[in-house]
Amino acid sequence: MHILLIGGGGREHAMAWKLAQSEQSTAISVAPGSDAIGLENKVKCVDIAANDFAALAAYAKKESVSFTVVGPEVPLVDGIVDYFQSEGLRILGPSAAAAQLEGSKAFAKDFMQKHNIPTAHYATFTDTEKAIAYIEQHEAPLVIKADGLAAGKGVVVADTQEIAVDAVKSMLSEQAFGDAGSNVVIEEFLPGEEASFIVLVDGEHSLPFASSQDHKARNEGDSGPNTGGMGAYSPAPVINDSIHQQVMDNIVQPTIDAFKNNGTPFIGFLYVGLMIDANDVAKVVEYNVRLGDPETQPLMMRLDSDFVTLCLATIDGELDQHEINWSKQSALGVVLAAGEYPAGSSKGETILGISDANALGCKVFHAGSRIEGSRITTNGGRVLCVTALGNNIKEAKELADKGCDKITWPAMHRRRDIGYRAIARL
Ligand code: AMP
Ligand code: GLY
Repeated sequence: MHILLIGGGGREHAMAWKLAQSEQSTAISVAPGSDAIGLENKVKCVDIAANDFAALAAYAKKESVSFTVVGPEVPLVDGIVDYFQSEGLRILGPSAAAAQLEGSKAFAKDFMQKHNIPTAHYATFTDTEKAIAYIEQHEAPLVIKADGLAAGKGVVVADTQEIAVDAVKSMLSEQAFGDAGSNVVIEEFLPGEEASFIVLVDGEHSLPFASSQDHKARNEGDSGPNTGGMGAYSPAPVINDSIHQQVMDNIVQPTIDAFKNNGTPFIGFLYVGLMIDANDVAKVVEYNVRLGDPETQPLMMRLDSDFVTLCLATIDGELDQHEINWSKQSALGVVLAAGEYPAGSSKGETILGISDANALGCKVFHAGSRIEGSRITTNGGRVLCVTALGNNIKEAKELADKGCDKITWPAMHRRRDIGYRAIARL
């Protein structure tokens, strides 16, 4: 079976690698993919942009693609699933209506309020003066969020009212995020520990993925600016059995039911970003409508079930007839980023040592690199994710760190404390 995967980052590298391990797949085309993704067994990259729906659908028809899987959020929010379905093509992902859960933070907040799904208190503003008046009536810390998609950069956790006011001004008056910030959500700061709770949903039934956790802050100790994620691991021990059940009952099932009852069933990967407080109460920080990046890299290392079977069962609404199995081992991935990340990216610096890291038993997934002959160079903000398995998180981290130690380029940035919370719980 020929499968088309949309995207080209580290998450899609891990997804392509896993799809290729299935006996059911004969070929995986990745659009646009990357040089490194194209080196995987069974995989070839096709030079079609993720937003060129007509060209993607034409390719899927010409190549008799059995089904398409979508990695990133932007084409989902822009309606790629609706487009493919209108062309009679099978595709795994939420419709534009369901993808609003990630596409608009105001939509997600209103949705949670309406359906009694636990989340932070909030208010939504388009007017700068009204937003400032609200901030002055509420104690810091406050969290300011651009409504639309901003590649993980549209959130400011403001420790003071002044920082909150500046954030609102930059989003509403100075349009720092363009249209995405023409509407802002201001919400209560939730203390606690974050975790990523991902479920595969077929519109009615769901199969939860193993728990995972990423580190969003750029620097060690979870300090510095927010990024797309500097590393991730699975399982996340903060999600014990009772929190797992609480999340399924109070968050996941009500979300699935609400979309089903609205006539816009959610089909795809539902990613619930959680904050778990000191009393083990879980609240939703954000929804995403796709797999996490970099959570997918350790998750795919642990997935023991056939990924193609799971994708097909989701499209066919048959997840209730399947189970999902995870390796008992733990997995951890460390992101190697450009020195300037997240403010900037890097291009053309020579990367050394990737094959040495792979030889140690790590799997190096590429997020932003180029390969020209024998030379591998940087080509992005997040460049690589060095991922490893171990008998526990500590062992997985030790191996991933050894892999990272082999890899260099002039201005490389990495965190050395990925997984510290999980290790402290061992
Ligand atoms: P989001 O894009 O909504 O996930 O926000 C990005 C990051 O900001 C989250 O992963 C959290 O670390 C932080 N954050 C967002 N909302 C809150 C909140 N209400 N309380 C505490 N931290 C938050
Ligand atoms: N790692 C966070 C995300 O994928 O949104």
